[in-house]
Amino acid sequence: MFLSLVLLGLCICFIILHLTPRRPKNFPPGPPVLPILGNILHLNLKNPLEDFEKLRKSYGNVYSLFLGPRPSVVINGVKAMKEAMRPGKTVPRFTAQSGGKRFCTLCNIVLEHRRKSAVLQMFLQWKQLTDCDVLCSCTMLFCAIVSNISFTGKTLTPQIMFHNVASNIMCQVVFGTRYEYDDEFITTIVQSAIEITKAANGPWTTLYSSFPWIRKLPLPFNKSFKAVKRCSDLVLQSLNEHKKTRVPGEPRDFLDSEDSTFSEDKLIFTAIDLMIAGTDTTSNTLLTAFLYLINHPHIQERCQQEIDRVLEGKDQVCFDDRHQMPYVQAVIHEVQRIANTVPLSVFHCTTKDTELAGYSIPKGTRIIQNLTTVLKEEGQWKYPHEFNPGNFLNDQGEFVKPDAFMPFSAGPRVCLGEGLARMELFLIMVTLLRKFKFIWPEDTGEPDYTPVFGITMTPKPYPMKVQHRL
Ligand code: HEM
Ligand SMILES: *[C@@H]1O[C@H](CO)[C@@H](O)[C@H](O)[C@H]1NC(C)=O
Ligand SMILES: *[C@@H]1O[C@H](CO)[C@@H](O)[C@H](O)[C@H]1NC(C)=O
Ligand SMILES: *[C@@H]1O[C@H](CO)[C@@H](O)[C@H](O)[C@H]1NC(C)=O
Repeated sequence: MFLSLVLLGLCICFIILHLTPRRPKNFPPGPPVLPILGNILHLNLKNPLEDFEKLRKSYGNVYSLFLGPRPSVVINGVKAMKEAMRPGKTVPRFTAQSGGKRFCTLCNIVLEHRRKSAVLQMFLQWKQLTDCDVLCSCTMLFCAIVSNISFTGKTLTPQIMFHNVASNIMCQVVFGTRYEYDDEFITTIVQSAIEITKAANGPWTTLYSSFPWIRKLPLPFNKSFKAVKRCSDLVLQSLNEHKKTRVPGEPRDFLDSEDSTFSEDKLIFTAIDLMIAGTDTTSNTLLTAFLYLINHPHIQERCQQEIDRVLEGKDQVCFDDRHQMPYVQAVIHEVQRIANTVPLSVFHCTTKDTELAGYSIPKGTRIIQNLTTVLKEEGQWKYPHEFNPGNFLNDQGEFVKPDAFMPFSAGPRVCLGEGLARMELFLIMVTLLRKFKFIWPEDTGEPDYTPVFGITMTPKPYPMKVQHRL
């Protein structure tokens, strides 16, 4: 009896030891690991930010932790970030480019690196170079709506508005159509995208990506799988209409991409992914922009003076006008720095054994880039902790972009939509600031600049008032 208990005990010990993940040799340091759970208990899943900060203080700019059984390496600060994201002399080391796969937690589908789809990239470039109308018509519709509201003197909730304008632009890119804001197609897509993003932002994602099998359980996250289904049905419907009218060699939009490496399923999920990647990021950046501009009226006015001067006698702004607007450029970049819209970037994975900061990192290690630490790094910015366009202006008042500006991440896997996003931010902000003055409603109290943490950071909801300028 006693012997069997001892044996059982030994057995359990052995299993636990066996299930306890261990750090490979010369791996970046980190907190002690528990069996099965890894370091999950070290983190407060609702808001793990403070815990990560503590870990960085104890273990340095490159440290490791186990979210579930797989090791992750967290990278902080511009120096380590640049070393990590630099394309290697041979193969890019921290990208999933060379045949690597990225697991999309939400769609339960293995997406190959999208950049493989040269079609998408070509398409985005083509749209940008020849078709500013995409942005202009969306911006004009948006302006008309803001204008109507301003005449009523009502306060306005920018959350929904900015979300609509951003997703409408993505609809142009993906489906080739701009929708009225009450159209059923766009409202369904937007509603589903919000649900998916909310779920992806919540504490559940960490668990789901660490333990894919809990996907089958009836947990709260479950709802977003239905949203994915609803979305993909709509996209399929649109795809079928596209097929009837498409002209080979003349893609009108993303769904017209003809790429033999893309199966229909993959095209649909990539379309949804694209909608999501391009909507929340842009709209939250715009929300942050106006939160700060409204509460720094002198900065808003200085932008407006520059805009008035450069656009005098012109009907509409175009993207090239940015070269004459150093101050506006500085403000937009400073907004992006402060907004820190995608604080942890998108997780990467090593495609082969590699070295970083003197540590050895094996193939298959999850890489988490902490972009916040770069965007607010002391020593890299004149004013790291305050909203100040001076961060992007030299003594002559010219626009300069420090190396540590990487809200779109860096390296070969930098945000695919960077060009489009920069264009959107410039055109929308300039058009709006030219026409309207944005005001903090008197009865609203002090602004709260603390964002809500998620894959994308969101400012807390706030109201605003709009007045016509011209
Ligand atoms: C202010 C707006 C935006 C910000 C701050 C932003 C930021 C980012 C970041 C940090 C990444 C991760 C890059 C990496 O893996 O290292 C990313 C990826 C991506 N973004 Fe954006 N983004 C923005 C707008 C857009 C827009 C408008 C689009 C639509 C075309 C877009 C499409 C994508 C796609 C498709 C990826 C995945 C690229 C890949 O997996 O290689 N983004 N973005
Ligand atoms: C990233 O850095 C910021 C600022 O230092 C910190 O507050 C946050 O907890 C860090 N997050 C991770 C995942 O390391
Ligand atoms: C703005 O108001 C006018 C007049 O009430 C109306 O005709 C127009 O459709 C409105 N525009 C938008 C975009 O709501
Ligand atoms: C979601 O949970 C319900 C039970 O609450 C279950 O019947 C359904 O199959 C689940 N759906 C998915 C997609 O897992």
